[in-house]
Amino acid sequence: MENGPVNVAEFERLAAEKLERGPWDYFAGGAGDEVTLRENVSAWGRWRLRPRVLNDVREVSTAAEVLGGPVAMPVLVAPVAYQRMAHPDGEAAMAAGAAAAGTAMCLSTLSTTRPADVAAAAPQGRHWFQLYAFRDEGVTRALMEEAIEAGFEAVLVTADAPPGGNRERDRRNRFTLPRELGTPSLTAAVGGGRALSIEDTFALMDHALTWADVEDLASACSVPVLVKGVLTAEDAELALDHGAAGVVVSNHGGRQLDRSVATAEALPEIADALAGRATLLVDGGIRRGVDVATALALGADAVLVGRPALWGLAAAGGEGVAAVLELLREELGLTLALCGCTAPSQLSRSHLRRAPAASVYSV
Ligand SMILES: Cc1cc2nc3c(=O)[nH]c(=O)nc-3n(C[C@H](O)[C@H](O)[C@H](O)COP(=O)(O)O)c2cc1C
Repeated sequence: MENGPVNVAEFERLAAEKLERGPWDYFAGGAGDEVTLRENVSAWGRWRLRPRVLNDVREVSTAAEVLGGPVAMPVLVAPVAYQRMAHPDGEAAMAAGAAAAGTAMCLSTLSTTRPADVAAAAPQGRHWFQLYAFRDEGVTRALMEEAIEAGFEAVLVTADAPPGGNRERDRRNRFTLPRELGTPSLTAAVGGGRALSIEDTFALMDHALTWADVEDLASACSVPVLVKGVLTAEDAELALDHGAAGVVVSNHGGRQLDRSVATAEALPEIADALAGRATLLVDGGIRRGVDVATALALGADAVLVGRPALWGLAAAGGEGVAAVLELLREELGLTLALCGCTAPSQLSRSHLRRAPAASVYSV
């Protein structure tokens, strides 16, 4: 985007201008007092870099490999529900933007576009599917199979919901989905004709999900299964014990359990527990290339961004998504070079130290 925003915060302001109050609060808000929502962002700022100098950094690449495939940057698009409420082209534009930036997109179960249409909008792109488990196992399987048939390469089972978090902005606004908006794959799997409200949808989900169910899903699934929403070393170990190919360190962008640990704080113990045995992803509060570099140095293979990509989508459709991702890629490339690294894999804990308490900033 020529003369467009120069950072994610400026995209956020553009999105705020474009969206009505209800959708804006649904997308931007978190649970309870929004402590975790804020801390996700500020916790990355509790680390400082220990750059190494006088390494030849003429040729810096941000390219990486995630789940056996290449990406132009270790920054992927997180699953976000109801994207046609942000932009009329919704998930199709999100996928096109991610593919244009050379990275993968994870589609939400609560997508307003069917997986095959998302794949058709970005045939060169890499697509993953986020799965919510439903009480009716047939619904869960139908959703998963539809995505795999459309060429989706991995399934991320979300473990930190249901129940849905206490989103007070939505309650205050009496927020409901626009009438014309539906989740066509879910509606088809449920076998009903009418669009489902957010409350109806959460009520249909399986509140009794356990590690044994993850194991069943992983063994029934022809593509790798990752568990999204892990915040402790104990659960990361259990995920691997039950057949997961990896975990996503996530607190759902602060939308579920308020005062759950910020992901930048949870990541080190999980990286230590996994010790490179499985794919390790993290999301929550990533707004700068330096946040990405910090996550990689702490041991993540890649990060996901939820709201930043959403702000790009709301501001300028697929082009906006690509522009946000490209900004993060450029910032990461510059951070790598200034740290004396020529590739993301060269970052390690030796590049980090804790910020002095008095200098912790809050964005
Ligand atoms: C509006 C919104 C909707 C979301 N919908 C889903 C979803 O359907 N499934 C899911 O697993 N995570 C969902 N998430 C969580 C994201 O996948 C991701 O964990 C979170 O957005 C990361 O934090 P960030 O927004 O600070 O990058 C949603 C997040 C937002 C902001």
